[in-house]
This record gives sequence, structure tokens and C-alpha cells, in this order.
Amino acid sequence: MSQRPRLTVIGTGYLGATHAVCMAELGFEVLGLDVEQGKVDKLNAGEVPFFEPGLPELLSKNLESGRLRFTTSYAEVGEFGDVHFLCVGTPQKKGEMAADMTYVDAAFSSLIPHLRDGALIAGKSTVPAGTAERLATQLERDAKASGVELAWNPEFLREGFAVEDTLRPDRLVFGVRSQQAEDKLRAAFAPVIDLPTPVVVTDYATAQLVKVSANAFLATKISFINAMAEVCEAVGGDVTQLSKALSYDTRIGGRFLHAGLGFGGGCLPKDIRAFMARAGELGVDQALSFLKEVDAINLRRRARMVDLAREVAGGSFGGMKVAVLGAAFKPNSDDIRDSPALDVAATIQRQGAAVCVYDPAAMENALVLHPELGYRETAVEAARGADLVLHLTEWAEFREMDPAVLGDVVAGKHIVDGRNALDPVKWRAAGWTYRALGRP
Ligand SMILES: NC(=O)c1ccc[n+]([C@@H]2O[C@H](COP(=O)([O-])OP(=O)(O)OC[C@H]3O[C@@H](n4cnc5c(N)ncnc54)[C@H](O)[C@@H]3O)[C@@H](O)[C@H]2O)c1
Repeated sequence: MSQRPRLTVIGTGYLGATHAVCMAELGFEVLGLDVEQGKVDKLNAGEVPFFEPGLPELLSKNLESGRLRFTTSYAEVGEFGDVHFLCVGTPQKKGEMAADMTYVDAAFSSLIPHLRDGALIAGKSTVPAGTAERLATQLERDAKASGVELAWNPEFLREGFAVEDTLRPDRLVFGVRSQQAEDKLRAAFAPVIDLPTPVVVTDYATAQLVKVSANAFLATKISFINAMAEVCEAVGGDVTQLSKALSYDTRIGGRFLHAGLGFGGGCLPKDIRAFMARAGELGVDQALSFLKEVDAINLRRRARMVDLAREVAGGSFGGMKVAVLGAAFKPNSDDIRDSPALDVAATIQRQGAAVCVYDPAAMENALVLHPELGYRETAVEAARGADLVLHLTEWAEFREMDPAVLGDVVAGKHIVDGRNALDPVKWRAAGWTYRALGRP
């Protein structure tokens, strides 16, 4: 294989589009593929179909360079690529905890007949342990090309920091069965490895497990501090000071130790559930039974947020106007998959309030999923006439908001901070009732 393998990216959603653009930025020739024609057309026209800081600029630059383009043709991708990155979705199965593997299976089966001799498929989707082994058997059985192989290369990028995380990841994990596969992956990541970036070369099982165990750990850390918030609420403690004090212990550290409305999104919730489901199949469900509690603590925060908002509203949402600041599952993203903010907004509306939402990036997506909610173009417009304001996604725009400006348009100066991100002193000084999760 040449020094610079030609790369393809199968599935150009949040992960795949970012990966395709960033690999082109690193100097590779890249062909992205998606089954959605509309997505491919947008990408070819220089439009990123989702919000990700820095990505639109790099997409335009690399389309212009001629190193990057997008297609819907598997034949074209098979003909083009030396290394194929598989980046399709693995959502939670409807009505089950397990991951839905139909997209991975469909993409894999579509690609196999078109592979060239010596091609490598590198799976990046988050999958249950055992998937790579199963796909490798299928590849060996069905591929007509010779010397084709599978590797597993889990992805750790964070939405909102996806470009930085792809160009400068904190580690690379290569699950491989041969030296050739490792060499091909090393060639495909050469500019990143040279930074330098640590590479962990391991077997399929471990590579797949690294991703789900990383997410299980992060979810556990968030739920730990949220459990402490529950206890703080019972004893009158302040979880923000508790977590600050804990964070000075370098064994604990402050990251992911921020109490609030809990985690959501297209990864952590479904990944810990799929991990538990897979552990059950493997007969080691006891090893992960704590994740059930992690999930339960997380979901209880949403219920607690609704209860706290109702309490501030005077015991009932009936006839109340509620402004919701935030719809995305986290700031710097338009991703609303399993968004705690939207979950709370929809519950409150069902309980009788008229809810108006504002989010800097996620309004279009939110409107599709929750057409029953009201949407406004600015935070001030969402808050106009509101009896109660809920801060549910910690965008910088909300942290920096002037309480006096919002105070001029609301009907009642009551704010509940679901993210412990606003400054209570500032809001109270401006005449607001400030309430938050896990603190007085
Ligand atoms: N989003 C993240 O931050 C992130 C981070 C790390 C890992 N992951 C994992 O990466 C995977 C993808 O996640 P995502 O957030 O990008 O999902 P996504 O839904 O945004 O993207 C998936 C894409 O795959 C396309 N697709 C579906 N079937 C296809 C097929 N047969 N052939 C080609 N394309 C097909 C879809 O049209 C879509 O564009 C998941 O396994 C996820 O857990 C995501």
C-alpha cells in the first residue's frame, strides 16, 4: 500500500462527516458515503447537515482542495478505498435495551462485494462486544477480493469538540488480528500518530470494550455526583461546593463531576443500556448491574427537575407560561437525541404549562420531534411573559445572560437552573428567585 492510503467513510452523520472532513484536512484523499441522498448533496455543496463548531470551514476548504467528496454509491467506494471506516449508527433497539445492529449489518453487506484486493474495513461505530468477530467471519466467507481484513477502531470524539478530538485525539485504539491490518491503520493515521498520539494495539474484544467501558465510566461519574445531589437536597447541603471540594483530590478530579440534569445524547444512555444487554447475553450481567442504578439516578434527575419547577410554580403547572432555555442534549451541539432538556420541557407541557423553548442551534431538530412545544428565536422572546424560566442546557450564551434584561420581559422572576451553571448571586441580586438541583 502507498504511504497515503485512500480512505472512505461509510455513514456520514455526526461521527462520519467529521471523520471524513478531518482525514481530508490531514492530507488524505477521502470519499464519504451515506444512504441519504439529501445528506450527500448537502455535504457536496459544502453544507454540514448538523451543528459542529469549525466543521463547515474545514468542509469547504477540503472540498475545494479536491481531496474530499461524497457519494451514495457503494461500487464507487469499493473501487476507491484502501481503508474503509464504518461509521453508521447503532441506536437503541425500540422496546429493548440492546443496540440495533441493522445499519452496521446493512452497510457491511453492501460494501463486501465491492472491496478491492487488500482493502481494510475499520469499524468505528460503537458496537456490542462480539460484533467484530461475527463480521470478520462474514467477510472471510463472502468477500471475493483477496487479502481483505477487518479492524476495530473505536471513536472517542465529543460532539462540540469533534474537530479538535479527531485531529488531535488523546489516544487511538486498534483492534486487529494481523500485523498487516495494524500497518494499514498506522498508515491511515500517520499524521495523528506522529503528533505523537498513543496507540493501543489490541484484540477485537478489547477494542470494542474500550469504548463502552469508557462511556460506562463517564456515565457513572456523572450519576455519582447526581446521587450526591440527591443526598444534598435531603440534608440541605450544596452539591456544587461538595464537587469542588472533591475535585481537588487528584485521584477523583473535577471533570464529569458536575451535578445537574444528567446525561443524554446519542451515546451514553444507549451505550450503557446496550452494554448491560450484552453482559446479560454473556452471562456476566452481575458485573454491570450497577449501571442499572447509574441509568436510574440519571433519569431521576429529570423527574426531580420537573418536581422542583412545579414547586417554584406554586404547586401546579396549570395555566403557567414556562420558558425553557436549551433543547440540545449538551451545549455546542444541535443533537437532541435523548435530550434531558426536551424531555423535561415536554413533560411540563403535558402537565398543563405552555412551554416556549429557545436553543442557539437545536430548534429545527427539536421542532421535528416536539411540534407541540412553542419555539422562539431568542432567549428574551422565549421568556417574554413567562411565569418561570428553566435553564436546561448550559450554552455559554445562557451563562453570560444579563438577569436584568430577562427580568424586564418575564411575568415572574423565577429561574430554575438545571445545570448549576448560572451565578446565583448575580440572579438573586437582580431580584430573581434562583433554585437549582442539589443546593439550597
Ligand atoms: N456522535 C458521537 O459523538 C459519537 C462519538 C463516538 C462514537 N459514536 C458512534 O458512532 C456511530 C455513529 O454515530 P452518529 O452519532 O454519527 O450517528 P448518526 O445517526 O448521526 O449517523 C449515522 C449515519 O449513517 C447513515 N447510514 C445508515 N445506514 C447506512 C448504510 N447502510 N450505509 C451507509 N450509511 C448509512 C445514516 O444515514 C447517518 O447519516 C454510533 O455507533 C455511535 O455510537 C458517535
